[in-house]
Amino acid sequence: MDLPGVHEELEHAIATWEGEQVLTRFDEASGSWIFICIHSRRLGPAAGGTRMKVYGSPLEALRDGLRLAAGMTSKFAVAGLPFGGGKAVLAVPSLPHGDERARLLGVYAEAIESLGGTFWTGCDMNTTPADLDVIAETSGYVFGRSVESGGSGEPGPHTARGVLYGIRAALAHVFGSPELSGRTVLVQGVGSVGSRLAGLLAEAGARVLVTDLRTEHAAELAARVGAESVAPEHALETPCDVYAPCATGGTLSEETIPVLRCRIVAGSANNQLATLEDADRLREHGILYAPDFVTNAGGALYNAGSEALGWDEERIEHALRGIGDTLAEIFVRSEADGVSTGRAAEALALRRLAAAP
Ligand code: PHE
Repeated sequence: MDLPGVHEELEHAIATWEGEQVLTRFDEASGSWIFICIHSRRLGPAAGGTRMKVYGSPLEALRDGLRLAAGMTSKFAVAGLPFGGGKAVLAVPSLPHGDERARLLGVYAEAIESLGGTFWTGCDMNTTPADLDVIAETSGYVFGRSVESGGSGEPGPHTARGVLYGIRAALAHVFGSPELSGRTVLVQGVGSVGSRLAGLLAEAGARVLVTDLRTEHAAELAARVGAESVAPEHALETPCDVYAPCATGGTLSEETIPVLRCRIVAGSANNQLATLEDADRLREHGILYAPDFVTNAGGALYNAGSEALGWDEERIEHALRGIGDTLAEIFVRSEADGVSTGRAAEALALRRLAAAP
């Protein structure tokens, strides 16, 4: 490995980040890196999920955390919640189980506790309410513990409900009707959000296509909800009305956008675009992009709303419906200003941040 190169990239990643601070900890016993990225506390304490993942390198993990934390700032700003943006990444050599998992979560929980409430966390990829229960033994700065432990539970089903409102808003904008019957939606990634979304879409009468790198997962889900499974290598080029990315980010790029055969991109993945220019590319290709941090706010709205803001079911439903309303405004604004929806959403987030007292 070219170490000087890695050092430079590391310095570059942190120096060009517009965030506040990164807490770094190396857990020697497991060889895991812990990064807690606090991007902004302009609107309140930083909040964001904990992602556990096997990365190619600590640098890759740090970059993911930095970008995800920035996305959380925009997400809370646009959703109108009194939180800032943060994200934690646990870069593990392999996903731990049992006692080893609990031990690592304990080390991570000490790091959260040391921040004294400037960072609150919830679930993200490969973490569950049961993990938050373990973290909560050491630090109380947690949203989304299990229901049995008095928490509000998983965000995934609520993220999925919010994405459904987002898809309807996009359909209404493109086709003049939010109706799902007669429409084809391809759900890419059938994890905690994608699997729920596929079920909701099928219930609403859409033709649902599902795809996942774990092909047996996709086939199983397809059989269960009445969807069709598509081989992952054909996902991008499969004709559909809505392409819904619900897995890891960065899948929409200069290379992949020309291959797409959809009218709309609307899904739950964070950081769907490789770069903001890809929002412009989608626009040039006549594809309506529902910006990820607006569309996927449902889980954060649910966990933070019910635990920190005392929201009841009705208030949560209102907030989820608001995702569709906000997207409709962004679509109109993007057309009026002649900019991509991605840029219109970023501008809205920046206005909200600038307006904060
Ligand atoms: N990790 C999820 C997201 O990216 C949900 C979440 C965020 C849950 C913050 C709780 C707190 O939005």
